Amino acid sequence: MPAKIAVIGSINMDLVSTTDRFPNKGETILGTDFKNIPGGKGANQAVAAAKLGADVTMIGCVGDDPFGPPLIENLKANGVNTDNVEPVTGVPTGIAAITVADQDNTIIVIPGANHHVTPEVVQSHEEVIKESDLILLQFEIPMESVKQAVELAAKHGTKVVLNPAPAQSVELDLLEKVDFLTPNEHELEILLDTDEKKEFYQLNREKFFITQGEKGVLYYDGEKEVLVPSYKVDVVDTTGAGDTFNGGFSVAIAEGKSLKEACYDGNIVGAISVSKFGAQTGMPTKDEVANFLAKRG
Ligand code: RIB
Ligand code: NA
Repeated sequence: MPAKIAVIGSINMDLVSTTDRFPNKGETILGTDFKNIPGGKGANQAVAAAKLGADVTMIGCVGDDPFGPPLIENLKANGVNTDNVEPVTGVPTGIAAITVADQDNTIIVIPGANHHVTPEVVQSHEEVIKESDLILLQFEIPMESVKQAVELAAKHGTKVVLNPAPAQSVELDLLEKVDFLTPNEHELEILLDTDEKKEFYQLNREKFFITQGEKGVLYYDGEKEVLVPSYKVDVVDTTGAGDTFNGGFSVAIAEGKSLKEACYDGNIVGAISVSKFGAQTGMPTKDEVANFLAKRG
């Protein structure tokens, strides 16, 4: 039976402009391309996990504008169960205004309907959380809703992976209750913004999986720090690479693989994903991962 994962998080339309360089403040430049591409950290992570064969349910909200229906269709097309995605009347679907230049990006997220994923909405999906092996969370829905999901998961013994992105400060209690945290270095700094939290980190290092881009991911195996290196690939677009890592990592954890294997799995899919344009386009299936590894020898 495939691992059961529920992703509680954001669904965005990414409005992606491609340019040769980033504009300066107050400057107008001509870009080279524009595309609407499905995104949102929650939806991206759900698609990454579903492509790897997990049984994935998305819990989230879209608006009643033209972006909502194609985003739900896209999730379905990628094998994600959307029975728990709720359309909200009178609000826009979440969007991300993305600029891609210089093998890098800038992103502004306007949450829209994602802010309607309230603690009450999360509560109404208790059954899904109960029946999942693992839930996967990010910070593009209200913090109170993230907390509610963590409470319900704790109640039912469901594992929790929290990808603390975009960076936010949190209560110590939240760090205590989740099983796995996957910050990048910047997000880790924001998470550990008090002495109390820094001390918690020192005493609970094995919860933290620190992603370091192309270098790989750093974790603590109970005795020492281990860097699981990533793969070198030709970079086309790094948007969503972290999300792809989280999808791969979570599937491995839900399947009962070791922490090292989970890091390794996350790294591979993250690396493969940056070789294609768009957040979800480059996310690989299990077969594509096997092909990638075979070519590498
Ligand atoms: O992590 C990448 C994602 O962040 C994009 O798809 C965009 O929607 C923003 O949420
Ligand atoms: Na990509």
